[in-house]
Formats: sequence, structure tokens, C-alpha cells
Amino acid sequence: MKDFAIPFTVDVYLGFMGLSNSRSDVLIRWVSDLLHGNGVKRTEAAQSIVNFIDEVAAMRRKQPAADFMTFVVRAQVEGRSLTNEEVRGIGVLFLIAGLDTVAAAIGFDLAYLARNPEDQELLRREPDRIALAVEELLSAYSTVQIIRVATKDVDFEGVSIRKGDFVSCATTIANRDPTEFKCPDTIDLTRQGNGHIAFGYGPHLCLGANLARREIAIGVHEWLARIPTFRIKDDTAPISHGGHVFGVQNLILTWS
Ligand code: HEM
Repeated sequence: MKDFAIPFTVDVYLGFMGLSNSRSDVLIRWVSDLLHGNGVKRTEAAQSIVNFIDEVAAMRRKQPAADFMTFVVRAQVEGRSLTNEEVRGIGVLFLIAGLDTVAAAIGFDLAYLARNPEDQELLRREPDRIALAVEELLSAYSTVQIIRVATKDVDFEGVSIRKGDFVSCATTIANRDPTEFKCPDTIDLTRQGNGHIAFGYGPHLCLGANLARREIAIGVHEWLARIPTFRIKDDTAPISHGGHVFGVQNLILTWS
């Protein structure tokens, strides 16, 4: 994770913002502190990220370039420009929504391929299958849970949910619904038309889904093109965590 998946996704984000990767180390630390740090670190990281986004937005107002932040600061919505606060919100949201999630997906995919050499061999032999395989693995290892707040009391399937309760809709469970998916507990990298909800659905469908798909597929493709047959290092086990966003903390791979 620390040697490949996280730096890879941070570099894509910086490229998207039109920035060089000279600040990738500091950005990795902020995002990690924000999402996984304790109270003080979290607050400091949030402030640093806000300052960083404000700085990039100010720079792109003065010096437009062919990048996402220039697009945001110049955007017209319903006949007006976005306010500073809106620009900041978009910058922060994209940073938070787009880094850990993609890095986690790459981590889960490489862990799966490390444990399933036949599938690893299949993708090496036929890299055109990677995009489809990424869909199947997104479905099997959906990292983002959809959280909603109940607007009224409701009894659902014998469970009583009260107004104001937080409800976590586990995407990974929905993707194993036997009424929707044939052999839902089997990972089949050649499965066609997987209608998973790893990116949610409805009006809040993930805005970054297409970027995420490309990043994961390119990440897996480039890894397979460079690294010979790999496996989980003996006497180690990948460490993953649950929560609102599932993730892989540590994944030690080895190859000869
Ligand atoms: C594997 C990677 C990713 C997964 C699994 C994922 C998953 C999701 C899910 C499930 C939602 C819906 C949340 C809800 O309904 O409450 C969501 C929303 C969102 N995602 Fe992603 N995401 C990923 C990558 C990205 C990337 C790369 C970006 C941007 C660069 C991004 C930006 C967003 C944004 C802005 C929203 C909010 C959309 C809205 O509320 O209208 N995501 N994502």
C-alpha cells in the first residue's frame, strides 16, 4: 500500500489538479491523519487540506491551466461563478472521496490476485480482461458503505429504525443478493454485466466512478506488466479494516 497503491492514487490526484508530485508525501500524511488519525491530528490535517485547496484555487485563478481546478474556478452554474466556499468544498471532497477508496480497491485486487495465481495468470495472458475483472472485484470488495439518516420512524423487515438513526447500507452485501446475481458468493473474473452498486446508485451515484475504474484498471495493468508472479509473503497476512470506507492497511507481497 505505502510503496504503490497510495502514492499511485495521490500522484493521479495531483496530476488531475495540474500539480507536480513534489508534495505527494505531505498529502499522503494529511489524508491518512484525516481519515485514520486521532482528534488533534485529524483537526490539523483538515486545516492543512483546506489551506492547500485554497492555495491551489487562488493560483489557478491567477494562472489558468489545463487542469481540474482551473475548470472549477471558471465554472458557471446557473449563470454565476462558484463561491470560494463551494470551490473549497469540491476540492476537499474530491481529495477525500478519491484517494483512500481507489488505493483500497487496488489493495484488495492485488491481495486477491496474490491468492489466486490462476486468475493472476489469466490477466497477465489476456490484459484486455482487466477492466471486466476490476468490475467483479469492485463488486466482491466494495469499500464504501452508503450512510443515510432516517427521516421518519420505520419498521423494516422486523428491524425498527427510528427517526434520526444512522443507517449503514452495506454495498458489499447488496452485491451478494442471490435474486440479482448468479452464484453471488463466487468471484468470476469473466462475469459479464455485473450490475453491482459499489459506486452507489441514484442521485448520489459516485461522481468519480469512471476515473476510479480507469485508475484501478491502469494500476493493476501496470503492476502486472512490471512484477512477475507474486504472492502474499510467507508468515504475513494482509491487514484490512472495516468502517464507512473499508481499506487495506498492510499487504506484503513477494515474488522471485
Ligand atoms: C473504488 C473507488 C470508489 C468507490 C468504491 C466509491 C464509492 C462511492 C459511493 C458508494 C458513493 C455514494 C455515497 C452515498 O450515496 O452516500 C460515492 C460518492 C461520491 N464519490 Fe466515490 N467512490 C470511489 C472513487 C471516487 C473518486 C476517484 C472520486 C473523485 C475523484 C469520487 C468522488 C465521489 C463524490 C464527489 C461523491 C458524492 C456524490 C454525491 O453525493 O452526489 N469517488 N462514491
